[in-house]
Amino acid sequence: MRYEPADPQFFVRNRKRLLEQLKPSSLVVIHSNDIMPTNADGTMGFRQNNDLFYLSGIDQEETVLVLCPDAALEADREILFVRETSEHLAIWEGARHTKEEAAKLSGVKNVQWSDGFEAVLHRLAPQVEHLYLQTNEYHRADTSVETRNRRFITQCQNRYPLHKYERVSVLLAEMRTVKDPEEIKFIQKAIDITEAGFRRVLKFIKPGVGEWEIEAEYIHEFIRRKSRGFAYTPIIGSGKNACVLHYVENNRICEDGEMVLMDVGAEYGNWVGDMTRTVPVNGKFTERQKAVYEAVLRVMYGASEILRPGLILSEYQKQVLELMEVELIGLGLIDSEEAKKQDESKKLVKKYFMHGTSHHLGLDVHDVGHPTSEFKVGMVFTVEPGIYIPEENMGVRIENEFIIGEERNIDLFAHYPTTVEEIEAAMAE
Ligand code: GLY
Ligand code: MN
Ligand code: MN
Repeated sequence: MRYEPADPQFFVRNRKRLLEQLKPSSLVVIHSNDIMPTNADGTMGFRQNNDLFYLSGIDQEETVLVLCPDAALEADREILFVRETSEHLAIWEGARHTKEEAAKLSGVKNVQWSDGFEAVLHRLAPQVEHLYLQTNEYHRADTSVETRNRRFITQCQNRYPLHKYERVSVLLAEMRTVKDPEEIKFIQKAIDITEAGFRRVLKFIKPGVGEWEIEAEYIHEFIRRKSRGFAYTPIIGSGKNACVLHYVENNRICEDGEMVLMDVGAEYGNWVGDMTRTVPVNGKFTERQKAVYEAVLRVMYGASEILRPGLILSEYQKQVLELMEVELIGLGLIDSEEAKKQDESKKLVKKYFMHGTSHHLGLDVHDVGHPTSEFKVGMVFTVEPGIYIPEENMGVRIENEFIIGEERNIDLFAHYPTTVEEIEAAMAE
């Protein structure tokens, strides 16, 4: 790993908070993700299971965390299994963590090799009544590919059919929504790396550059700052491409007089940033582009003030749509008389702003959290309104992240060039 590891006390705190929520006589088992295959002997880059990472800080394949707070032997109460480095592995891929390194990163004292896991499981499972296992319960998750944790559920149920099975990820999802100060440091770092990429491309963008060339500038800046790379597939959409919400081809030339929308984020140490900025290709907004841009910006800051403790996502979205309606009327895109008569279930604003305004952000870009839970102090959300007008060859989205604070929200993008004047000045440098 090329990043500075997080304070191990963060992982110690997370395990302690999880243990407080378990039923008596419980065993938690969480596996790492698989290394996903591509073709022939190819593999994708490794990405750790976020629930396991949140509890251990270990960023390696074939890791298993076992928590058994009521175990008879104290050494059994917290065990971390990591992959042993064989001579073959050392030569071909490089060494994995030693037990001492894994103990230092995670704060777990009892570290063992992964091949000892089965025997320990079979010793501990009979001592408990409840088995807490990991699942991906994100409401939009694609679960068609079986994960290592999912395979383990089947194995476990075959072997221990009469245990009571429990969902550890529900507890972790709730915990993960409120960010620890240690996490905020990493999220801010990911956002700062993203900012460095943005400042770099502001000097690079001009008529005739390819969307893919802009993408290349970002990745260069991210990797040189010790990010693993993009937090998600970047969207670089010029002209009408900005209106395709998940456009990832990035294969068009940016033309004079257009704007280019960039939805790009760096990851750092497994945490992520998620930025969208929309800028004029030639460095100067037209009057119309400026009007649309400033309308989106007002909604972005307006929404960031509505995003306060106690509200839930659906009510928040309703209030943001009201802000957006005022702006769309001002831009002449919807008619105020028609808006008064509109069917509430088919709001006119949705023609130009058809997506949600905010999502949790953390170890996942669309981070875990129940859609009907109330907003709380310490949560981190994106705020990302947009206006998409294909008939005018433009789409504008602006996306910042905010921490919900006690008195007011904190803008993690406070240092970014954001206003029309700041963007034009940075592009003129
Ligand atoms: N980049 C994905 C999103 O903004 O939600
Ligand atoms: Mn987002
Ligand atoms: Mn985004």
